[in-house]
Amino acid sequence: MTNILITGGAGFIPSCIAEKLAEKKDNQLILVDNFLTGHINKIPESKNSNIKFIKCDVNNFQDISSVFYAYKFDYVFHYAAMVGVKRTQENPVKVLEDISGINNVLMLSKNTGVKRVYFSSSSEVYGEPVEFPQNEHTTPLNSRLPYAIVKNVGEAYLKSYKQEYGLDYTIFRFFNTYGPKQSKDFVISKFISAALNNEDITIYGDGSQTRTFCFIEDNIEATTNAFYENKFVNDVVNIGGDIEMPILEVAKLIIKLTKSNSKIVHLPPLKDGDMTRRRPDTTKMKQLLKRDLLPLEDGLKKLLQNTSYIL
Ligand SMILES: NC(=O)c1ccc[n+]([C@@H]2O[C@H](COP(=O)([O-])OP(=O)(O)OC[C@H]3O[C@@H](n4cnc5c(N)ncnc54)[C@H](O)[C@@H]3O)[C@@H](O)[C@H]2O)c1
Repeated sequence: MTNILITGGAGFIPSCIAEKLAEKKDNQLILVDNFLTGHINKIPESKNSNIKFIKCDVNNFQDISSVFYAYKFDYVFHYAAMVGVKRTQENPVKVLEDISGINNVLMLSKNTGVKRVYFSSSSEVYGEPVEFPQNEHTTPLNSRLPYAIVKNVGEAYLKSYKQEYGLDYTIFRFFNTYGPKQSKDFVISKFISAALNNEDITIYGDGSQTRTFCFIEDNIEATTNAFYENKFVNDVVNIGGDIEMPILEVAKLIIKLTKSNSKIVHLPPLKDGDMTRRRPDTTKMKQLLKRDLLPLEDGLKKLLQNTSYIL
């Protein structure tokens, strides 16, 4: 039996990795979440009865330590975090509390014999990028916003725990990921929700800022392959799509696919936190995936087959 802790388990990406790992009977999964942005209906059912959920705040040492002491985890996926551009910018102190969560998880992991910690970092650590594509090792990290700084500090913690205590890690730097269970704070689900309701789709600035988009299945397949194949141990891997698309084009594509009457409305550009471009070097991700990434249009069509979480 392999005991695995997934923090943030009632959230979008963490609940999807839980669902995938639960397919293997031998994996026993404990999911923790404080429902900050997660929801009970995202916690997956498993036909193998190997998922258990515990409501718990990772940033509270007493709360999370009892979970670590009750189960002896072999692996930890630390994915819980305060997310969302608006939420993290409006709560700049609260978002910094996630540093305590990272410290709690790492201290408890090294003291209870965890073999490896997987950490969900973010493309935000690159800040305003200075090279394209953004490479895990050569592109400087220009994080300035509290959310991005927390991720950067998290990465530093993992590397320091490895150096001082020998605790193995893998850092995944997630770029924009989308899928059915994503909450409406994020661009794709926000646009789809507006389009399906024939409401205005709002864009900051002229919409020429580009993003890449990664369908959730590509994220989950790449990260679970890293886990099962012991790849990129004590290393960093970008997990994201590699085709840049202007936000305005994304809005138009969604309107077309949903046959919506929505209008595109432009708002003043965001003061901070809206990078002009972002594109990951996906060489390592493709070594994990061993196939091409799903194009945005195909991913959107799959998402539109299950809009129950978005509507
Ligand atoms: N979705 C993306 O495009 C993207 C991009 C970059 C990084 N990430 C990272 O991936 C991870 C998962 O994000 P997501 O998009 O699935 O968001 P999400 O909001 O759906 O999931 C995060 C979960 O963490 C929980 N949580 C937050 N603080 C907690 C705490 N103190 N204790 C316990 N649970 C807590 C939330 O309730 C939520 O269920 C996060 O670490 C996020 O920073 C996501």
